[in-house]
Amino acid sequence: MLLADLLGKRVSYVVAHGEEIVDESPIDAAMRRRTAGEPLQYIRGRTEFFGREFLVDDRVLIPRPETELVVETAIEKIERGARVVDIGTGSGCIAVTLASERPDLRVVATDASLAALALARRNGAKNLVACDVLSAFVRDFDWIVSNPPYIPESDVEELATEVRDFEPRSALTPGPAGTEAIERILDQAGRARVILEIGFGQAQVVRDLAFARHFHVDELRNDLAGIPRVIVLRRSS
Ligand SMILES: C[S@@+](CC[C@H](N)C(=O)[O-])C[C@H]1O[C@@H](n2cnc3c(N)ncnc32)[C@H](O)[C@@H]1O
Repeated sequence: MLLADLLGKRVSYVVAHGEEIVDESPIDAAMRRRTAGEPLQYIRGRTEFFGREFLVDDRVLIPRPETELVVETAIEKIERGARVVDIGTGSGCIAVTLASERPDLRVVATDASLAALALARRNGAKNLVACDVLSAFVRDFDWIVSNPPYIPESDVEELATEVRDFEPRSALTPGPAGTEAIERILDQAGRARVILEIGFGQAQVVRDLAFARHFHVDELRNDLAGIPRVIVLRRSS
């Protein structure tokens, strides 16, 4: 893929033209980055999410396939014309995809990282707000969608080099428990309904945290690996 990028060709071209001689210095530089553990997506500067291309670099988390389930759920469940906020938009992958797939929605995206917001803008995100979780303007929304940081701090050291040493720490972990950002989102959610991506093994604890805040679980969806990955919550009346 790196060679194809450098040649400006498709991978199939590279495979079919194995005999061609190319200048190796640019590919050497890219390969050095890769062998140092840098994710392929950062070296290429882009990745695919929900069939669209997004620019990515070390300012943002690389969008994951599991997060497509957040978008799918939102597309299905959110009523026409609703006001939606994507908290912790990163590359903008959720907000941009949702706004494209559901042009009837009014989508706002927030992030605490100005650097991430700059990239989200380049990816086409509109209505960007720099703020911590939601700050004061939650009453403006019918729905919250979010893939918040959810890895417990002590688990970060065990992650693959690609993730641990290259992706932004603030995108990975919110603190020791892993649920701090989720708790803060629920504390600020008001009457908005909530669609959250959750981590491996977090379903029960998130359910308990939600119950304690008078939410009930509308739905829990498994990802393709059968892991409960997306939780849909509604404030009990
Ligand atoms: C797991 S990443 C998700 C990025 C993107 N939505 C995605 O799904 O690929 C979490 C994002 O939340 C942001 N974030 C972390 N803490 C935050 C906070 N307290 N308030 C707002 N955003 C926060 C991070 O900067 C990061 O962009």
